[in-house]
Amino acid sequence: MDIRYIEENRLFVLETENTSYIMGIVDEEGFLGHFYYGDRIDPRDSSYVLNLIEPEYTPGTNGRDRSSFLDRFPFEYSGSNVGDYRNDSINITDHNGNGSVLLCYDSHEIFKGKKKLEGLPAAFGNENDTMSLEITLIDKIIGLKAVLSYSIFDGLDVIARSVRLENTSDYPIMLNKVMSMTMDMDNENYQLLTLYGSWARERMMDFRPIGYGDTLVESFRGESSHQFQPFMALVRNGDSQDTGKTYGFSFIYSGNFQAGVCRSQFDSLRLYMGICEKNFRWKLEKGKCFQAPEVILNYSPCGLGKMTRTFHDLFRNHLIRSPYKDKERPILINNWEATYFNFDSEKLLAIAKEAKKSGIEMLVMDDGWFGERNDDNSSLGDWYVNENKLKGGLKKLVDDINEIGLRFGIWMEPEMISPKSRLYEEHPDWAIQVEGRVPCRSRNQLVLDLTRQEVFEYVYDRIKDVLSSANIEYLKWDMNRQLTDLGSLWLDSDRKGELSHRYMLAVYDLQERLVTDFPDLLLENCSGGGARFDAGMLYYSPQIWCSDDTDAIERLKIQEGTALVFPLSTMGAHVSDCPNHTVGRTTPFNTRGDVALSGTFGYELDITGISRKDREAIKEQVENYHKFSDIYRNGDYYRLASYQRNHEFDAWMVVSKDKKRALLTCVQVVAAPNGKKRVLKLDGLDKNMDYRIADSNMRILGSTLKSAGLQIDMPAGDYQSKLIYLSSEE
Ligand code: GLA
Repeated sequence: MDIRYIEENRLFVLETENTSYIMGIVDEEGFLGHFYYGDRIDPRDSSYVLNLIEPEYTPGTNGRDRSSFLDRFPFEYSGSNVGDYRNDSINITDHNGNGSVLLCYDSHEIFKGKKKLEGLPAAFGNENDTMSLEITLIDKIIGLKAVLSYSIFDGLDVIARSVRLENTSDYPIMLNKVMSMTMDMDNENYQLLTLYGSWARERMMDFRPIGYGDTLVESFRGESSHQFQPFMALVRNGDSQDTGKTYGFSFIYSGNFQAGVCRSQFDSLRLYMGICEKNFRWKLEKGKCFQAPEVILNYSPCGLGKMTRTFHDLFRNHLIRSPYKDKERPILINNWEATYFNFDSEKLLAIAKEAKKSGIEMLVMDDGWFGERNDDNSSLGDWYVNENKLKGGLKKLVDDINEIGLRFGIWMEPEMISPKSRLYEEHPDWAIQVEGRVPCRSRNQLVLDLTRQEVFEYVYDRIKDVLSSANIEYLKWDMNRQLTDLGSLWLDSDRKGELSHRYMLAVYDLQERLVTDFPDLLLENCSGGGARFDAGMLYYSPQIWCSDDTDAIERLKIQEGTALVFPLSTMGAHVSDCPNHTVGRTTPFNTRGDVALSGTFGYELDITGISRKDREAIKEQVENYHKFSDIYRNGDYYRLASYQRNHEFDAWMVVSKDKKRALLTCVQVVAAPNGKKRVLKLDGLDKNMDYRIADSNMRILGSTLKSAGLQIDMPAGDYQSKLIYLSSEE
C-alpha cells in the first residue's frame, strides 16, 4: 500500500494491494478531479488517466465554456450553484442567504496511521498498517474549508473516506447537505445493488438498472432502519460471486443516510453517500468544524464474493473494538420468545437450570423486568426492578443464576420513554416533540431527547446503576421505534435541524462511555430486530440482533443480505420454538440450529417446555458450536447458492484462514421430486490440499472440489439442512 503525490502532474495516487485510486489538481483554479478507481495501474501510467478525461482544462481563462466544463468535470467533491448541475456534494446557505460554493485545492498532507473522527465511529489503524491522505479544499469567497480524508489499510482493498468542514469566515454558514463522499465515474452498464426490508424481513437484496437521473436509497427515520441499509454496490455481473467489477460502499453511521447514483446527460455517474439531506441542517459557527461520518469504498474486480470478504476483514480488524471480537461468545438463552412479559424469578431459574444441563452458558433476561411493565404500554425510563416479578431484587436473581453456573445478561431500551411512566410524569418535556403538537406514538412510546445534557446524564446513570447492581456481563441495548416529530424543547430554532444528527452523536457518546466504564461487558445492539444493524454500531458492539424473525427459512434471506456486508460473528442468531412466532412455520430443530450456528448462536425458547428430543439436540448443537465457532468467527465466507433468488435451496461455506478447515451449510427449502442431482462447486479451498469430507473416508483435492464440485445428498422433505465439515487435518 502506498499514497503518493506526483508533483509533476499534480496527481494523488492511492494504491492498495490490488487497486489504484487517482485524483489530480487541474487548471490554475485548482479543481480537484477524480480520475480513476479500479484495478491497480502501473505507477508509470498514473498520469495517463488524466488524458482520458476532458481534453482541455481551461475554465480559468475560457469563460465561454466554463459551465460545460463544470457540468462534466469529474469532481472529487463538487460544489453547488456554480455550473455543475449534477447532484452536489455539499449545499450551504451563507450569511447573505446565498448558496454558491466551489471548493478548490489548497494543501495536502500524507501520513502514517489514521486520525480518529471526533464523536463518530470510524475504521482505525496504526502507523504500521494504515496510511492516510488529507486534501484541504477551500472556497475563499465564503471562507469554507473542506478537508477530504482518505485512509488505506495494509492487505485490504478498501479506502476509508470522510470530510471535515471548517468555517474560516466571520459569520455562521448553514450546512444544508454534506455528503461524506461523492465519486464520478464512467457508466459501464452497472446495476445498483441495495438492501431493503421491513420489520422481521431486513436486508433483502435488490438489483436494479441505473436510469438517468437519481436512483437512491435513504433513511430519514432517525436510524439506519429496517427499510434500507446504508450500503450500495455497483455490479457489472448481477449477483455473480466471482466475476464482474463490483464497487461496494458501506457507511459507518447509524442515523439518517442517503446512498445513490446520479446518471448524467453525458452518461457519467456520480455516486454519493452521506447523511440524508432530509431532516438535516447544521449551523456551522465561525471557527467551528463539522465532521461528516466515514464511508468505506471497496472495489472488487471479481464479483460480490471478494467484496464481502474484504468488508468482513476490514470490520473485524479495523472497526470492531470489543474484546469479544476474537473470543468465543457465550451461548445464551434469551427469555423473550419463551415468556414475553410474563415471567418471574422462578420461571427464569427454571429455564436456567434446564439450560445448564444442555451446555448453555448465559441467561439473558429480556423486556419486562422493570417498572410496571407487563406489556409494551408502560415504564420505559423507569429503570428500577419490579420486585413482584424478581422477588428479592436483581442481585439475588443474578446470584442465583450464577450459582446454577450460568452467566447473566439483561435487556434495556435506554433511549425511550413511555407516556405511562414515572419519568414522563416528572419530565414530559424530555421527549422529542414539536411544541404544541401531540407527538406520534409508536409501540406506545416516545423517544428521549438525548441531545439535552440532563436527559443524557439521567439515561447514562440509569444504565450504570443497573449494570453495577449485580454481576451483569451482557447488555442487549434495544431501540424499538423510529423518530418522528423532530423537535426539541431546548434547541434554538436555528438549530432544530441538527436534532437527528445530534441524537445519533448522543447515542454514540452514551455507548462510548458504556464500553469505557464496562470494558468487559458484552454489548449487543438491537432495534426492533435489525433496524440499526450497521457499521456504526459495530464500533461499539461486536454483535447486533439481526431480526425479530427467528424462523430458520426467513433467516436464510435475512442472513444472506446481512452477511453480504457484515461478518458472521456480528449476526445475532438464535434457535427458537415452532411453530415460529412470526410466520407460523414449523421447521426441523436441526435446521434451526444449523442456520443459527452461522451467527452468534443462542436460544430463544422455553427450554422447560420443548420435547426431550429437542433438548437432547441442543447438546449436539452446543458441541458443534464449540467445535466450529472459530471458523465462523474468523474464516472467509463464500456464498454458493441463494434461496432468495432460486427459491429452493441455500448454501454457504466458511473456510478457515489457513484453509485447513471448512464448513458447508446447505438448506433445502423446497423438496423437488425426480430432480437433477445437486452438485456444488466449492470455493475458497486450497487447491493443493486434500480434504476429508464430513464423516466419510473420502479425501478430495480442493482443486477438484472447485472444478468438479461436491454432490450434496439432502434428506427428503422441505426445510432440511445439512452441515458438512471438511478438514485437511483429520
Ligand atoms: C424488540 C427486540 C426483541 C425483544 C423486544 C422486547 O422487538 O428486537 O428481541 O427484545 O423488543 O420488547
